[in-house]
Amino acid sequence: MNSIQFAPIIVGTMRLGEWGSKMNLIELEKFVNDCLEIGLNDFDHADIYGHYSTENDFGKLLKHNPSLRQKMQITTKGGICLTTERKPKFFTNFYNNTKTHLIQQVEDSLQNLETDYLDLYLVHRPDFLMDPYDIAEAFSQLRTQGKVKHFGVSNFTPIQFDILNSIFPLETNQVEISITRQDAFEDGTLLQCQKNRISPTAWSPLGGGKVFGKTEDQKILRIQKVGIELAEKYQVGLDQILLAWLLKHPSRIIPVIGTSKIERVKSALDAYKTQLTRQEWYLLWKASKGKDID
Ligand SMILES: NC(=O)c1ccc[n+]([C@@H]2O[C@H](COP(=O)([O-])OP(=O)(O)OC[C@H]3O[C@@H](n4cnc5c(N)ncnc54)[C@H](OP(=O)(O)O)[C@@H]3O)[C@@H](O)[C@H]2O)c1
Repeated sequence: MNSIQFAPIIVGTMRLGEWGSKMNLIELEKFVNDCLEIGLNDFDHADIYGHYSTENDFGKLLKHNPSLRQKMQITTKGGICLTTERKPKFFTNFYNNTKTHLIQQVEDSLQNLETDYLDLYLVHRPDFLMDPYDIAEAFSQLRTQGKVKHFGVSNFTPIQFDILNSIFPLETNQVEISITRQDAFEDGTLLQCQKNRISPTAWSPLGGGKVFGKTEDQKILRIQKVGIELAEKYQVGLDQILLAWLLKHPSRIIPVIGTSKIERVKSALDAYKTQLTRQEWYLLWKASKGKDID
């Protein structure tokens, strides 16, 4: 089996439905087609998005226009259980990375997404009660059945990744990485991806949008000041500077963006054209940390 080839930017779906812009079928079809037209064919889901409704919104699109499926790669995630009216049996939020739950959840996601396979499946978060052998068995079964082509994890620490990866080879760790969240640079996550020759995927690569607009948060104000100066120097948007900052890392971080506006998706793709210097990179690092390097 070949390893997964990600598009340069992954399109996140978390904010497209009930948890964000609430696109109707026509709006979603236009957005997806516009993304495909510029070569962005990777769509990132999770069962919980929109309180378990966004996969189904996307599935309705694939049912309405089945030819779209073969043009795209679909990732979904599972293992988080959220209390919502749609899950009346849950009386608290919890994680469930058991084989039984993950397999059942993939079945549900396939049904919701109106597809018979997933390109990539991620365990959404480390479950404090997880057994890596149990997860590996679930992955093996899903692969043998042809229901999932590639596997990975999300929000795993390097040691958690390493243990599961030693039993079942993983193809990404999707973690929060941005100018506002730098843990992956410091805790070995990115180096581990480099060692394993896999691409890290970065959720909330623009800090979930909090780097834009008015704020009194001193850290964001420092980032905005340096970011806007660099944006003026390179004649690009602040979004492109902050994505170029991620793209400079040699682990080849793939951003998973969350905008629902196609102009902003296009702008994100154009971030590849801006090459920050090493000193500019560290200037933004310093702005975020609020102190110089040691
Ligand atoms: N694995 C996990 O645990 C996990 C957790 C969270 C998210 N995710 C994935 O990551 C994806 C992205 O997360 P995210 O949505 O937090 O990412 P993000 O791209 O950092 O933030 C998106 C937000 O920023 C706003 N935004 C983007 N560009 C902007 C600009 N130029 N000016 C002003 N506002 C701008 C967007 O608003 P507009 O829509 O108005 O542009 C949207 O509200 C999700 O869709 C999901 O697939 C994964």
